[in-house]
Amino acid sequence: MSVSRRKLLQWGGLGVVGAGLVTVPITTVSAKSASQLSSRDMPKPFKAAFRRPPKLDPVDITYEDDGTQVNHYTIAMRQASAQILPTKKTGILGYNGTFPGPTIELDQGTKSVVHMRNRLPKNHPQWSKHLLATSTHLHGSATLPQYDGYANDVTLPGFSKDYQYPNFQPARTIWYHDHGVHFTAQNVYSGLAGMYILHDEVEKELLPQGEFDVPLVVSDAMFAADGSLAYDDRDHSGLWGDVILVNGVPWPVMKVQPRVYRFRILNASISRSYRFSLSSGQPLHVVGTDGGLMPATQSVGNFRHGMAERYEVLIDFSKYKPGTRVELRNLSNKNNRDYDFTGKVMAFDVVAGPADMKSDPRWNHIPTTLVDSEAMHLTEDDAEEDRRFRVEKDGLVEPWTINGVTWEDVIASNFKLAHADPKLNSVEVWEIENKSGGWFHPVHIHLVDFRILSRNGKAPYAWERGPKDVVYIGENEKVDVVMRFGPHQGRYMVHCHNLPHEDHSMMFQFRVGLGEDDEDPWDPINAAPAEFDDDPD
Ligand code: C2O
Ligand code: CU
Ligand code: CU
Repeated sequence: MSVSRRKLLQWGGLGVVGAGLVTVPITTVSAKSASQLSSRDMPKPFKAAFRRPPKLDPVDITYEDDGTQVNHYTIAMRQASAQILPTKKTGILGYNGTFPGPTIELDQGTKSVVHMRNRLPKNHPQWSKHLLATSTHLHGSATLPQYDGYANDVTLPGFSKDYQYPNFQPARTIWYHDHGVHFTAQNVYSGLAGMYILHDEVEKELLPQGEFDVPLVVSDAMFAADGSLAYDDRDHSGLWGDVILVNGVPWPVMKVQPRVYRFRILNASISRSYRFSLSSGQPLHVVGTDGGLMPATQSVGNFRHGMAERYEVLIDFSKYKPGTRVELRNLSNKNNRDYDFTGKVMAFDVVAGPADMKSDPRWNHIPTTLVDSEAMHLTEDDAEEDRRFRVEKDGLVEPWTINGVTWEDVIASNFKLAHADPKLNSVEVWEIENKSGGWFHPVHIHLVDFRILSRNGKAPYAWERGPKDVVYIGENEKVDVVMRFGPHQGRYMVHCHNLPHEDHSMMFQFRVGLGEDDEDPWDPINAAPAEFDDDPD
């Protein structure tokens, strides 16, 4: 029972004594459930079946002169109606009309072009009714600036843009999501997010594949009485819903065989962080972080998972008899808003495996040594430059700032203002500090994979000892990260991944290998603008 439910019962008891107090529990109830759904329409944990996001096939495959394979994909962003709740339909905006969007899966070394069509209505159908000017970011890919989803590089409804992705990086779990200026939070929350999985040979040998390699897109939502999504970001502090979704399904149940599974967990919530653990008390074996496999497996009882971070974990169900249920739980972290069932995420029901399972040991163990990566070899001594950033709530017009500036200042400078200007392929250490006890800020640096050197002067947590592109800057934390800026030149964003913070306006940019007045052949807005889309559907 949650604390507030207990309080509610106490107050309810008082209410019997003094009639005037009866109103107290009623306000408490409405403050405690973010959704306005009737109890009949409100989903309950572990009633719905788990499902994977759909997969996307290329529409065409071509080859460059040197033999490099290029996969061509087409995605149309559309308004659609989704069955998220058991009894009511929910309007969403989705890549190909689904939430999550379809998963793109390919091998390192295969390039891709995603023909991204904006077939959304001109204005968002709910809330702020803003213009649906989108920009698509492939989060975790070192993409050229003009294809990186720069916030102001927008594609208007009726237009399309071909995004080119190099996919030269090692195996990793990445994701694509909307990044449209000022309305990223509403657009992602409405459904514009999907997974993108990059494989390589080493990873295919080491870790479970196919049926045993499972994407988990975790998010939270609140619903209006009619089943539509509700939105309340509490004056841009954040949105904390009372319904936890995994791949768009409330608290699903997945059938698993008694063996080792790999879960690629993406926190796609716009403001909620999680602390995952298993009801069985057994460890989660963390094998991958944002930028791919870690040097060594880290087995932990629970781990803190901020927005946009990806953690790949192995879970070993082999000791469970068919019929056993193991729950994936959320112990939460400071400065989230929790509700009665936000401590639950999903359940695994162990079922009998095939008769020959024991004779197929492939991937059915927990490897200890994994993969070295360039980022994990960087040290403080490699750095040419140290920079410091403060994430703060202090703005007069826009509340959230980094070193006192906002994205508004970048816009006002005609996109020239940059807060760091690393040389191409140079290494830098960035210290990022949050002096507040009231907020946490998962900070994302585009383009690079970094290594976390220290957290408040101590070693980073076990689960974050792998290549990263988002770092959780918790309450009163100071974190040092080291990274190499390349292989591309040009301007890239850095921002908090609490999306209402990003939109208002905790975001700045850095410029790699170019001076402020140099001509920029990779201008993120002008080098590859969107085109009019004359396809009628
Ligand atoms: Cu996941 Cu700049 O975003
Ligand atoms: Cu990114
Ligand atoms: Cu923030």
